[in-house]
Amino acid sequence: MAQDTLVALSGITKSFGAVRSLRGVDLTLRAGEVLGLVGDNGAGKSTLMKVLAGALQHDDGEITVNGRQVRFANPADARREKIGIVYQDLALCDTLDVASNLFLGREPRRGPFLDRRAMHRMAAETLSNLHVRVKSTYQEIGELSGGQRQAVAIARAVSFDPAVLILDEPTAALAVAEVRSVLAMIRDVASRGVGVILITHRLQDLFEVCDRITVMYEGRSVEDAPVSELDVERLVAMITRSDTEEVPQT
Ligand SMILES: Nc1ncnc2c1ncn2[C@@H]1O[C@H](COP(=O)(O)OP(=O)(O)OP(=O)(O)O)[C@@H](O)[C@H]1O
Ligand SMILES: [Mg+2]
Repeated sequence: MAQDTLVALSGITKSFGAVRSLRGVDLTLRAGEVLGLVGDNGAGKSTLMKVLAGALQHDDGEITVNGRQVRFANPADARREKIGIVYQDLALCDTLDVASNLFLGREPRRGPFLDRRAMHRMAAETLSNLHVRVKSTYQEIGELSGGQRQAVAIARAVSFDPAVLILDEPTAALAVAEVRSVLAMIRDVASRGVGVILITHRLQDLFEVCDRITVMYEGRSVEDAPVSELDVERLVAMITRSDTEEVPQT
């Protein structure tokens, strides 16, 4: 294992009843790297990342973090190992304001009382650190654009000071300008040494921010290559396995 390897997954399997969602996945992530994780719908990307984030327990295989084998019973275990995740369906609360969402569950207190001013000050600081622009930290999440919501969700994950940040389809529903700013945010986070795993179906995004790409196919990791060795056409062929003879085309 390379010295700066943050995470190594090896032979991960996971079944839901008769459905074998993960059939043996290998993946590595280094500090400061943006790793693209791609594959067709149902390939197992989200399931794999839920395993790495402690939201699901795998059946077989090993998870190594900083050279130490770990097993996560729940998301808190993964958070202790500094693994953060922003889920495909953002877990934000529409009726709360930006600051409350950022600090949900760990709001600053003064004695028994919520320290609202401190919370908004910290929220403004966190957002400005990440170059996220919202009109006010008092704005309700439900009033924000898709891109702003995504940015707040990422900022929340970053505020836990993760070493590993998993983003599941962060740009799927965004307008062009919003995609730009989320991608810039990803590069910015990685430049601080965080290892980022980016799941996306927008292949052009991968070429903008990723250093390396891992391809999954039907519950297996099938390819792993530096972005510099790939182009969109080659990547599409890898994802669909259209250049592989042992898999019949349908
Ligand atoms: N809780 C669950 N119970 C049963 N099957 C599940 C569960 N979660 C995922 N699966 C199945 O596991 C397989 C992989 O799903 P997963 O969501 O990981 O795919 P994905 O690669 O993230 O796809 P997409 O690109 O569509 O998000 C699918 O066949 C899915 O139906
Ligand atoms: Mg998914």
